[in-house]
Amino acid sequence: MCGIIGYVGERNVVDVLLDGMRRMEYRGYDSAGMALLSGDRFDVIREVGKVAELEKLVHDRGLTGCLGIGHTRWATHGGVTVENAHPHSDESGRFVLVHNGIIENFLDLKEELENRGDHFSSQTDTEVIVHCLARLYDGDMVHALVELQKKLSGSFALVILRKDDPDGFFCVRRGSPLVLGLGDGENFCASDVPPLLPYTREVVYLDEGDIGEVTRKGVRLWDDKGCSKEPTLQEVDWDVSMADKEGYSHFMLKEINEQGAVVRNTLKGRLAEGRVDLSEELQWSQELVASWRNLHIVACGTSYYASLVAERALSKWTDLDVRVDIASEYRYRTVRTDEKTLAVFVSQSGETADTIAAQRLARGLGAHCLAVTNVRGSTLSREVHDTLLLKAGPEIGVAATKTFMGQMTALYLLALYLGRLRGGISAAEEIRLAEELSRLPYKVETVIARENSLQGLAERYVSCRDFLYLGRGYSFPVALEGALKLKEISYLHAEGYAAGEMKHGPIALLDDKVPVITVIPRDSLYEKTLSNILEAKARRSPIIAIGTDGDSLLETYADHVVTVPWTDEEFTPFLSVVPLQLFAYHVAKLRRCDIDRPRNLAKSVTVE
Ligand code: G6P
Repeated sequence: MCGIIGYVGERNVVDVLLDGMRRMEYRGYDSAGMALLSGDRFDVIREVGKVAELEKLVHDRGLTGCLGIGHTRWATHGGVTVENAHPHSDESGRFVLVHNGIIENFLDLKEELENRGDHFSSQTDTEVIVHCLARLYDGDMVHALVELQKKLSGSFALVILRKDDPDGFFCVRRGSPLVLGLGDGENFCASDVPPLLPYTREVVYLDEGDIGEVTRKGVRLWDDKGCSKEPTLQEVDWDVSMADKEGYSHFMLKEINEQGAVVRNTLKGRLAEGRVDLSEELQWSQELVASWRNLHIVACGTSYYASLVAERALSKWTDLDVRVDIASEYRYRTVRTDEKTLAVFVSQSGETADTIAAQRLARGLGAHCLAVTNVRGSTLSREVHDTLLLKAGPEIGVAATKTFMGQMTALYLLALYLGRLRGGISAAEEIRLAEELSRLPYKVETVIARENSLQGLAERYVSCRDFLYLGRGYSFPVALEGALKLKEISYLHAEGYAAGEMKHGPIALLDDKVPVITVIPRDSLYEKTLSNILEAKARRSPIIAIGTDGDSLLETYADHVVTVPWTDEEFTPFLSVVPLQLFAYHVAKLRRCDIDRPRNLAKSVTVE
């Protein structure tokens, strides 16, 4: 939530900041702003709306420069107004800064500052930070930032310009991500990697409490006590084309189309002689693996639904007691987490505040913690014992698609691996399942190639206002994910429900204006779900069935049938979710919604 960026170098800073902010817009897009420092003059421009609105203003003013900071906002404290947009400055105008995160004690600090005579022009917590900084500064920036960290509670990543420092900027992180990009005669800093990709792949991830000074010549780092430290250089394996639309009308459509490749990449190097081998990444001793009794999976949003799919496979293939929780619930209830627990935290971004907090809780209680994430170097991956990467490449569309696929793939690898290590699955069965897993990329691509039928269905039902999505067993989380996709990007009401539960409530909503989308592969629960279709049909609901190729019986029950290739019951979610993603995409497109940047949402939710 909120994206921040800083640049110093020879290029026109305005172009670098605008391009970077556009590449980070998925982090928030209700207002945007930038500050440039030329000589000892600050130019601060802020605007409500997307980065494109700011761009118009900046170009009208013909601004250029070599040093500046930028911000794209997802409002937390204070409404969406120009006054609340970043950057913010102190009263003397000596400092200007941008902030990602939340300051929990900002009201107390504000009162303290007001009692000392400070005046504020916004309702934000950020303005309080810059006022505090101005009061703490005594000529030594590092010292001021060490002290500032002591004063602030909450999470923050800051990029700061100082009027009497034309050489560069300072930055600091605690709880919110920040990465430095190293170039030749130019250097960068941003909340995420995508803004850096057009210029460099050499990066330094800041640790908790790190303070950085970024100049044209290089970067210097200090820890939260002000002790100097060596930056650890890393090379990112993403390239700039991965973060471009490459001819697709939307990132979401591009990402849906990449899903076969995502499964392929996530499997790559993890299957040896037909069996799953994660021993390089997960250096677990026999004793450690044998000590686990419980497996907790914790996540939010789409990651939670991928976890629900995996729960079923993990329960089948291992002898562990598996439970899946929403991170914001896991934290606040009594859960028996201890040394006998393997706790898996699933997060595309690795920055979701609730998931990170849940991890800290589980770790504190003695659990062995594993992150399943798409972002190397993310906060989550730096705090856990082990990480399993998705290898999905950057996902820019706010509504997750390809990372759902990557998460299921990674979690299924984990399930088979644990099954093997704990003896829950025979070698022959493991090899057979791994073989089917390797066939999935082709099957996923086959489903994507049937996009036209989903476009047709979207045209047919775009005027409906309510949708019910049903599924059982492995298809239940798919129904939840399908409904979520439609809600997120088309703003239509959609509910995902366990098919068997429909008669306990949602059936009251059904009539000929409420389509029921049923995920009904040819699996062990097929007949049961078929009965639910009949129940809905009897209430005159139009029935759309997502079934299996060759299932002619479905034609007689459903008004529309979309089929996917056959696969084992456990793998059906990999295929049946794709038509639901495409249906949501086409409905949203027909409704002219902003598909990649749906209202009120942000891709990375760094507040609790
Ligand atoms: C937000 C995003 C969702 C995502 C969820 C969890 O709500 O809009 O797409 O599923 O956060 O994010 P994570 O990065 O932890 O997977």
